[in-house]
Amino acid sequence: EKGGFSSFMEKEIHDQPDAVAQTLLGRSDINGKLTLDELRIDPALLKQVNKIIVLACGTAAYAGMVAKYAIENWCRIPTEVELAHEFRYRDPILDANTLVVSISQSGETMDTLMAVRYAREQGAKTISICNTNGSTIPRESDAVLYTHAGPEIAVASTKAFLAQITAAYLLGLYLAQLRGNIFSGQIKDVLADLNKIPAKIQKILDNAGPLRELARSMANEKSVLFLGRHVGYPVALEGALKLKEIAYIHAEGFAAGELKHGPIALIDDGQPVFVVVPSPRGRDSLHAKVVSNIQEVRARGARTLVIAEEGDEAVKAYAEYVFYVPETPTLLMPLLTTVPLQIFAAELAQAKGYDVDQPRNLAKSVTVE
Ligand code: F6R
Repeated sequence: EKGGFSSFMEKEIHDQPDAVAQTLLGRSDINGKLTLDELRIDPALLKQVNKIIVLACGTAAYAGMVAKYAIENWCRIPTEVELAHEFRYRDPILDANTLVVSISQSGETMDTLMAVRYAREQGAKTISICNTNGSTIPRESDAVLYTHAGPEIAVASTKAFLAQITAAYLLGLYLAQLRGNIFSGQIKDVLADLNKIPAKIQKILDNAGPLRELARSMANEKSVLFLGRHVGYPVALEGALKLKEIAYIHAEGFAAGELKHGPIALIDDGQPVFVVVPSPRGRDSLHAKVVSNIQEVRARGARTLVIAEEGDEAVKAYAEYVFYVPETPTLLMPLLTTVPLQIFAAELAQAKGYDVDQPRNLAKSVTVE
């Protein structure tokens, strides 16, 4: 049932083109109109939403961070992301115009469930993005948007993460459509770009040989850092979490802009640093800023391992290693840039001889608070 792969995790990494495609399937017509009828929530209520709070834990919370960038950009609705277990304890401000979006692969994570219950008690509307049909969180929410990643067996989440991001994009586009925030032509364009993602993920999977070799050569590392900015920031956090979870290597993700505010002190000779670089085609100066971060850590002896967009020649001068992902609009980049980091962690953990499907001390769904 591992489909010829060495582990469920490897299989699930390779299932990702399909996980994204299935999550997109049947949710829009050829004119680019989204039809999330299954949401079963009154569109009139959704139109009144003036604040969104995304609640989740772990990897699902990183999907929520990606969602924030997309939803705020497309819908102009202020969006917060909070770890579900922190949420209730800060006396959050919610009312009937607050939309709470929970994200959970299992639909059984107790921390997330308790946060959703609390939000409902406070009168907020609740939508669950979930991968498990009929599980508790969707049952206890006003509405559900299922991810169609298929069952995820490996403890460390991979394909569910990409499917969660995809579903969150659909929700953001749907809200924008309802509220008339962006032109239907723009929605159609984003959907067209989303529909090209599965083939691009496949290309990444097919070109991962040298990345796997790099991972195997790093089996004795004690610490790996990950830097990212904008939507690359949650990708950096996810890259670090994967490595901690399955390879038991100390790993930390940082917002690249934070480097000079402290973490750069960690850099010394030979410290491996992954850098997730924004597209050079972006309108702002983020690309140049992140390239200069690569330069800064390299000057202090770091091994610079770079994830960049095809055609980005500027990173080469300071990178020990570059993995190129296909071009895609900035907001959608996490669906691509995450994949090499998953492959890196899985390959490295397998090189160390660990059971990547069942990492120590972890359970697939955390049903206690
Ligand atoms: C990371 C991982 C966990 C889960 C988290 C939430 O690889 O698997 O961080 O993402 O426990 O689980 P769900 O999505 O089931 O609520």
